[in-house]
Amino acid sequence: MQQDIGRGVAIIGCGSAAPDTVLDNQGLSHVVDTSDEWIASRTGIRQRRLAQGDRALTGISAQAGKAALEMAGVAAEDLDLIILATSTPDDLFGTASLIQAELGAIKAVGFDLTAACSGFLFALVTASQFIRTGAYRTVLVIGADVLSRWIDWNDRRTCVLFGDGAGAVVMQASDTSDRLLGFDLHSDGRQNSCLTLPFQGAERSLTPDIAVQQGTYQPIAMSGQEVYRFAVKRVPEVIEKALFRAGMSTDQVDWLLLHQANQRILDAVAQRLSIPSDRVISNMASYGNTSAASIPIALDEWVRQGHIKPGDVIAASGFGAGLTWGAAIFQWGQSDR
Ligand code: COA
Repeated sequence: MQQDIGRGVAIIGCGSAAPDTVLDNQGLSHVVDTSDEWIASRTGIRQRRLAQGDRALTGISAQAGKAALEMAGVAAEDLDLIILATSTPDDLFGTASLIQAELGAIKAVGFDLTAACSGFLFALVTASQFIRTGAYRTVLVIGADVLSRWIDWNDRRTCVLFGDGAGAVVMQASDTSDRLLGFDLHSDGRQNSCLTLPFQGAERSLTPDIAVQQGTYQPIAMSGQEVYRFAVKRVPEVIEKALFRAGMSTDQVDWLLLHQANQRILDAVAQRLSIPSDRVISNMASYGNTSAASIPIALDEWVRQGHIKPGDVIAASGFGAGLTWGAAIFQWGQSDR
């Protein structure tokens, strides 16, 4: 049972980029009271990449976007739409336009979309709606974050988890088949306090009667155990629902591609879905949790290393702050296996 479609959607190219600077767990143990043993055994993370500079998000996003366009054989001038999933824009008014300019995607409209670690998944589904209605033909979806800007580097409970990076895919209309087979998205703002990067202002009086709030964002605050429990319950559910919508079962899934938050979450979800570990994509040891970037970076690595082949069925799921979570079932590439 496929969802109603106008035109079909194909995902035809991917790319990724990460900053050069590497901070491994040993190095981090000089910043906070922690150890490689603690971090690796609880999370699977060994190192993370850290970005420098005020325009870092634009830079790595454009780099990932270029690589995806090259693989897809699509010229930047032929893009109709760029969606940037990020919670850490270089410019709060939007960073997609800066990327559009850097790529030379002169006729593309661009906008940012914020859904934390679910951002890439939500952007992929958003892009597919523009394609299915026939509004746009060729779309670049980027997931990118520089969370190092907003981490409390004195808080060992959170600073060990995150890293910076960017990943991208090119999606295109297809008149012959539809490769986005099913999806399901959710939010629950009642659990917002589990994981936040909140604005905090102080009152400034403008006139005796009128005041405004001026301030900035506060570092990431997280209740680790609540987020863990949320992920291992909701992620298998949402994948099963997306599979149901695709008319498929878990044994038809070639690759489980989860947001790379924590190896223990990946293992627990795979076990609940009875998906063997050799079909679970994991690269968080090298990058940590890169938020909206983690799914497309992992996809890009598995495609370029030749593990994922055209026609392979991928069950992807993003989850995180909001709280938000979602899943998409899609087939990689243009041709059948
Ligand atoms: N190094 C060493 N010790 C640490 C530490 C660190 N980096 N972080 C926490 N600890 C300590 C705590 O202080 C605590 O010590 P205490 O018992 O003496 O107070 C102990 O380790 C256990 O802390 P706790 O927070 O209960 O650990 P945990 O087993 O829940 O593991 C997480 C913490 C963050 C790894 C785990 O909760 C998790 O993975 N949650 C999901 C987080 C996530 O993925 N977030 C992003 C979602 S998009």
